[in-house]
Amino acid sequence: MNPTEVRRWEADRSGVTKTPIPGTEGVPSRQRVSYNYEHIYAELLDGYPADEWSTVSIQKLCRYEATRALINTLFGPRLIELSPDFTSTAHNAYVGPIERWLEDVSAGFDWKAAEADVDWESSFGGRAVREMYRWMKETKWRGEVIAATLGALAFALNSNSIPTTMWMLMEIIRDPSLLQAVREEVATATTTDPETGNSSFDHQKLVALPLLQSIWTETLRLRINFNIVRDVKQPILLDNCNTTVERGTLIQVPMMGAADHPASEFWAERHIRYVEGERKYVMAGHPAAYFPFGGGANICPGRQLAKHEIFATVATVVSRFDLEVLGWINPADGSPTDRAAESDLRYCGAGAMPPDRGLKIRWMRRG
Ligand code: HEM
Repeated sequence: MNPTEVRRWEADRSGVTKTPIPGTEGVPSRQRVSYNYEHIYAELLDGYPADEWSTVSIQKLCRYEATRALINTLFGPRLIELSPDFTSTAHNAYVGPIERWLEDVSAGFDWKAAEADVDWESSFGGRAVREMYRWMKETKWRGEVIAATLGALAFALNSNSIPTTMWMLMEIIRDPSLLQAVREEVATATTTDPETGNSSFDHQKLVALPLLQSIWTETLRLRINFNIVRDVKQPILLDNCNTTVERGTLIQVPMMGAADHPASEFWAERHIRYVEGERKYVMAGHPAAYFPFGGGANICPGRQLAKHEIFATVATVVSRFDLEVLGWINPADGSPTDRAAESDLRYCGAGAMPPDRGLKIRWMRRG
């Protein structure tokens, strides 16, 4: 963005919630930059709804194949058709390919036709992307800025989902009894067409499976490490230290170390809440100690989509393939290593911490 465009974001004081911050009620709804940016994503992403062994690395499988599937889902197939290297492009180089793709798919797109309002069509892909483009065009943003905004979405889409998928697959595949238990559980959410014999998942059942959800929660707890950033809109009194955080301050809330119980440590009462002195088990027992998707008006708008697509990927791999571990590898050169993967701490504070080692496996499509 150029300085004028940055000032346009800065000048918007109306907030991200539907009701504008007092004093800004006069700003026309479509001109409310933060609100529209947040609300379009939140509304349109939230409901989302062989027989031969070959050797693969979980990292490469997720980084290329799973990323390609995700991009095709949200942005439609044309983006990767035009830029076949998109999935291996560095994030800061997303803008050019996305700008070219937007020019291509918007040329001749009929905004008055029914397809302009469907949940998915082959030009823009998902509705969230189409609506973001439509709103930014209507409010006169330059093509490069629109591409950069959608590039940030592509980054948000991949940067957390892909490492989370890697970790879930690694934890499951390295433990044969867990792999077997997950297979059996996934089978309960699988239906087979009696005529064609094709099987498919009941996605609502899939995302509600207890063991898979427990592996998901545990993976997020151990591997997601964001510094949540907030811009203080009105003074906040921290009464336990008698300090006021002034309006305009930028604060960061680290996930690691919240409530004196780092995510990496075992804490028996993490999922306990006391109600009238009695212990109750609750998933979000301590929202101040476990918030992998952030919170409030800025909470991750892709969290439901993430859960659906990650569960579908994991379920597909464990149910359609026989899987065997060959060993840990150094990601740089693929050489063997004895040490199991740990979180790559270079990413601490920036989102999902990917594994610092690769897992080489062999797999064979089940007949
Ligand atoms: C395991 C997967 C994911 C995790 C752990 C995750 C986590 C987060 C977190 C912590 C934030 C900051 C929220 C806050 O400030 O309170 C965020 C923001 C965001 N996420 Fe996700 N996310 C995931 C997947 C996705 C996916 C699949 C998408 C898109 C399809 C997505 C789109 C976004 C966007 C657009 C924002 C920025 C919202 C804003 O600007 O306020 N995320 N995510």
